[in-house]
Amino acid sequence: MNIVVSNVKGGVGKTTTSVYLAAAAVDRGWDPVTLVDADRQASTAEWLEERPLVGVDLVEAPSERTVSRALAGHGGLAVVDTPPGDERIVRAALDRADAVVIPTRAGGVEYSRVVATLEMIGTRIPYGVIICAARLGTNDLDETVAWWTGSGVPIWGIIPERVGIAAGPETRLFREGLDAYGKVLRKALRKRAG
Ligand SMILES: Nc1ncnc2c1ncn2[C@@H]1O[C@H](COP(=O)(O)OP(=O)(O)OP(=O)(O)O)[C@@H](O)[C@H]1O
Ligand SMILES: [Mg+2]
Repeated sequence: MNIVVSNVKGGVGKTTTSVYLAAAAVDRGWDPVTLVDADRQASTAEWLEERPLVGVDLVEAPSERTVSRALAGHGGLAVVDTPPGDERIVRAALDRADAVVIPTRAGGVEYSRVVATLEMIGTRIPYGVIICAARLGTNDLDETVAWWTGSGVPIWGIIPERVGIAAGPETRLFREGLDAYGKVLRKALRKRAG
């Protein structure tokens, strides 16, 4: 089972989402759980070096060849953090994806970038957007939810904006974040290909 976290736009929450999804998978009993860092910025790798997660194996795979290999033979659940700018690596990950989670933000500038991501995904792989760092109860969020719904793009989750999530590896994973990402994981598993 391979879950690819992707959006061609930078800074939307891919790394945060990947780390939390991997931890949520451990919580739900998956073994082994492999967190594949396909981004040469290595933010996920640095996060886990600073704060290892029990039950999560980190694999650094910042090339087409290494990401394909990492996703081929792990025998459990893998989550892949992909780079914002390298389409070839994203495509190599998508080739082996069973589900794609697309982190996004509330606000109008997001749509065209997500459409570019959707074009790469094609029609074979189930996908859903999640709205990261969402300000609950704002018009901006309501409008964004309505827009995705009207466009026929499934929303797999809304992750609230929280200081405890923004802290990244500086603190342990934030309980509310684990719960919210646990629900995203459940959606991805329910919709997965095959
Ligand atoms: N739910 C949240 N609440 C508060 N801050 C968040 C939340 N999710 C993500 N962030 C913050 O948003 C910023 C971008 O997140 P992240 O690094 O995960 O994005 P990214 O898509 O991996 O970026 P890049 O394209 O550079 O790899 C970070 O500062 C992160 O802490
Ligand atoms: Mg990142």
